[in-house]
Amino acid sequence: MSKKAILDIDTGIDDALALAYALGSPELELIGVTTTYGNVLLETGANNDLALLDLFGAPEVPVYLGEPHAQTKDGFEVLEISAFIHGQNGIGEVEIPAGKSTAQPGAVDFLIDSVNTYGDDLIIIATGPMTNLSAAIAKDETFASKAHVVIMGGALTVPGNVSPWAEANINQDPDAANDLFRSGTDVTMVGLDVTLQTLLTKKHTAQWRELGTPAAIALADMTDYYIKAYETTAPHLGGCGLHDPLAVGVAVDPSLVTLLPINLKVDIEGETRGRTIGDEVRLNDSVRTSRAAVAVDVDRFLNEFMTRIGRVAAKA
Ligand code: BDR
Ligand code: CA
Repeated sequence: MSKKAILDIDTGIDDALALAYALGSPELELIGVTTTYGNVLLETGANNDLALLDLFGAPEVPVYLGEPHAQTKDGFEVLEISAFIHGQNGIGEVEIPAGKSTAQPGAVDFLIDSVNTYGDDLIIIATGPMTNLSAAIAKDETFASKAHVVIMGGALTVPGNVSPWAEANINQDPDAANDLFRSGTDVTMVGLDVTLQTLLTKKHTAQWRELGTPAAIALADMTDYYIKAYETTAPHLGGCGLHDPLAVGVAVDPSLVTLLPINLKVDIEGETRGRTIGDEVRLNDSVRTSRAAVAVDVDRFLNEFMTRIGRVAAKA
């Protein structure tokens, strides 16, 4: 039986790949997409989700609008580096037809209702800032004890990507991510420790291009844009990091990574604001509510990635 899944995303090229990975995974039933700001403004991300769901042959999946900015801020502006990596429209300036549906308000309520309805049969995969999850925890006191979450975010054993200690998704709203970890929610952290090892190259995207479908071409075009950005920002890697799809991969099959059980927190004060680190207060607790991925089976994941994206690209 497949597991119900919600993607909480800031779409974003690798978020788009995460969406395709989820749709290409028979182990998951995507019951909704909740949107967050981050790589793009909230509305841009929602429009990307609607367009991509149509393109990928899944127009029935509902899209819900989440929080437009961190609770500690009055608004949100896209960082220059995000626009450089993902393009102004978030999907590498690739033009795809607008989705036929519209996004509905109420992402936080949808998350709460889904957790209450499906409990252990639901996995939430969050690949943007954790603002919606923090709002759900604040609104429903039972949410933390019922939800199962896999996040793309954080950096435990490697430096950050927006500062020497902070990863982008955590950095957008460190307080929200700290709320999530310290609430005791069951969280699996898929951070830069592993996602910078899973790299895609133009040799891979050329395989999609050969399929020739609109979805395959759009995926290849946007991913080539992303790979090109990485050639400037991280030329030593030799490809682009499959951050968000790896979080979906781990939700489907945790054995793709080695998980370190650890109660995590985020520094919310001082110079290291945004750093993910072990929570000293819960260091000796026998119960570890979170775990961090510290190693990954790169070849096996890349194989799964190409198979699952290929399914969506070939049929749509
Ligand atoms: C994360 O930040 C975003 O730019 C990506 O979509 C990914 O979720 C990587 O640090
Ligand atoms: Ca993302």
